[in-house]
Amino acid sequence: MHQSLWSLSQKTSTYPPLSQHTKTDICIVGAGITGITLAYLLKDTPLTICLIDSDRVSSGTTAYTTAKVTAQHDLIYHELIHTFGHYDAKCYANAQLEALDFISQTIKQHRMDCEFERKFSAIYTQNAHDIPLFEKEYAAYQELGLKGRLVKTLDLPFPIECALILENQAQFNPVKYTTALLEEIQTYPNIRIYEQTAATDIKKKDGTLTVCTSLGYEIEAQKVVQTSHYPFYDDLSFLFAKMEAQTSYLMACEGVKNMPEGMYLSYGQPTRSIRTYQNYLLVGGEDHRTGTEKETKTRYEALTRFATQHFAPSNISYRWSTEDYDTVDRLPYIGQMKQGDQIFVATGFKKWGMTTSTVAALLLKDLILGQESPYASLFNPNRQHIALQIKNLIRYNAQTAWELVKGKLRAEEDLSQLTPGEAVVLKLDEGKYGVYMDEQGETWMVDLTCPHLGCELSFNRAERTWDCPCHGSRLDVTGAVVSGPAHSALKSTTNRIDPNLF
Ligand SMILES: Cc1cc2nc3c(=O)[nH]c(=O)nc-3n(C[C@H](O)[C@H](O)[C@H](O)COP(=O)(O)OP(=O)(O)OC[C@H]3O[C@@H](n4cnc5c(N)ncnc54)[C@H](O)[C@@H]3O)c2cc1C
Ligand code: FES
Repeated sequence: MHQSLWSLSQKTSTYPPLSQHTKTDICIVGAGITGITLAYLLKDTPLTICLIDSDRVSSGTTAYTTAKVTAQHDLIYHELIHTFGHYDAKCYANAQLEALDFISQTIKQHRMDCEFERKFSAIYTQNAHDIPLFEKEYAAYQELGLKGRLVKTLDLPFPIECALILENQAQFNPVKYTTALLEEIQTYPNIRIYEQTAATDIKKKDGTLTVCTSLGYEIEAQKVVQTSHYPFYDDLSFLFAKMEAQTSYLMACEGVKNMPEGMYLSYGQPTRSIRTYQNYLLVGGEDHRTGTEKETKTRYEALTRFATQHFAPSNISYRWSTEDYDTVDRLPYIGQMKQGDQIFVATGFKKWGMTTSTVAALLLKDLILGQESPYASLFNPNRQHIALQIKNLIRYNAQTAWELVKGKLRAEEDLSQLTPGEAVVLKLDEGKYGVYMDEQGETWMVDLTCPHLGCELSFNRAERTWDCPCHGSRLDVTGAVVSGPAHSALKSTTNRIDPNLF
C-alpha cells in the first residue's frame, strides 16, 4: 500500500494491545475519526470506555481521505428533498453543519494544531447539460437555508460551465485532528485504548455482550459500538447487502505555481477532487467499485495527466488510494443495529465521513445516554425507504452475485507471466489461488476466497493488494488484512507454490 500524506503525522507512540479479559460499559470497536470522536464525547460521563483498534489508531480510512470538512456532499439536497421531503433534507443539512461547528469549536477550545482552515467548497461542471441540475440544487440550498452561490467561473485553470459554491466550509489534517482528540482523552481514568486488538465476534448472553478479540481475550460490555468503518459483526441486519465499497485515488503534488483558493469537486465522471495542504495541491478521483479492477495503475496515470495538464507540478510526492461505502439511499447507517439492541453501528459515509463521522458520534452519544435526537430516525440503520432501496439493492447484489459466479468461471492464468511486482491467478482443484512475486523474487501464494463471505479476490496492481469486489475487504500479498470487513487472514504460504500445503 502507498503511504498517504496524512500518515506522516502519525505519532510514533503506541497504545498497548489488550492483554487480559476485561469489563467495560461501552466497547468502541474502531479508532478512526468516528470511534475517537465518540470516545471524546463520552469522556465526561460516568461510563467506562474501551476503545480498540485492530491496527494503529487513526490508521484506517481517516488517514487516507481528502479531509474536506463540508456539508456540500456532491449534488444531494435536491434529491433528498425529492426523496424524503423538506424536513428530512433539512435535518441532513443541519446535522452536517452542526458537525462542522462542533469540529471548529473543539479545535478552538483545545487549541489543536491540525491546520484547520475555513474555505469555500465548490462543485462544478464542464458540461452545459448539467446546468439545470445545478439550478435545482441551488434552489434546494435556498429552501434549506444553505449559503450557496451559483457562478460561471472559478479560480481553476480550465473553463467550467457552472459551479455551486457553499461558503465557510473547512479543511484540515485529519490525523493531526484525531491525534489531538486522543491526547485530550488518554488521561481520563474511565477511558482505555488498545491497539493491535481486532474484534472478531460478539457473543450475547443474559443482557451482556462479549466482544471476542483476535488475541483470545474478551471484553464484556453493556453496549458495543461498531465504528470499524465496515461493521465486523452483521447480526443478521444484512447491512453488507445494502452497501457498496468504492475505491478512489489521491495524489499530493508539489511545485504548483497558482494554487487555487478553495476546495473543488467535479460533477459526474471522471471525478476530480482538488484542495490544497501547505505547499501541496491534492488531486483525487477515479472512483470505481472496489476489487473490480486489476490495472489500477491507470487510475494514477489518469490523475497524473490531469494534474500535469492543468497545474504543471514539479513533483508528485505522494499517491494513495482508499475506499468508502455508499448506501442504497445515499444516507449513512447510524444507530442501533436492531430495534432495542445494545449493538450500535456507524457506517456508509459515502466519502463524506469528516462531518458524517461527527454527526454519527454526536447521535450515538445521545442514543447511548438515552437522550432524544432529531436525527435518530433519518439515519436509523433499519429505516425503510423501500422504493429507492429496492432499485439499488438489486443493482448492488446483482453485481455481488455476479462476482461470486464469475469467481468460479474465470480461466486460469499462466504462471510464466509471474515477474517481480506482479501476480497471477491459479485455478487448482480445490479453488483459486493468487501468487505474487515480490521485488526479491520471493513468491507469496494465497487462497483467493475472501474470509468475509467467500467472494473471489482480485489483484490490485497499483497497491499490491488482493481486493474483494463484494464488500471491499483488502488483503496484502502475504494474506494479512489491510481493511475489513474480513478480519481473518487468508490461508497462505511463501516460496512454495504447492497447493497440497493448504
Ligand atoms: C479517497 C477518499 C477521499 C475522501 N475524502 C473525504 C473528504 O474530503 N471529506 C469527507 O468528509 N470524507 C471523505 N472521505 C470519507 C472519509 O475519509 C471516511 O468516511 C472516514 O474517514 C471514515 O472514518 P471511520 O472512523 O468511520 O473509519 P476508519 O478511519 O477506517 O476507522 C475504522 C478503524 O476501525 C479499525 N477496525 C476495522 N475493523 C476492526 C475490527 N474488527 N476490530 C477492531 N478495529 C477494527 C480500523 O483499523 C480503523 O482504524 C473520503 C474517502 C475516500 C475513500
Ligand atoms: S468483503 Fe464480503 S465477501 Fe469479501
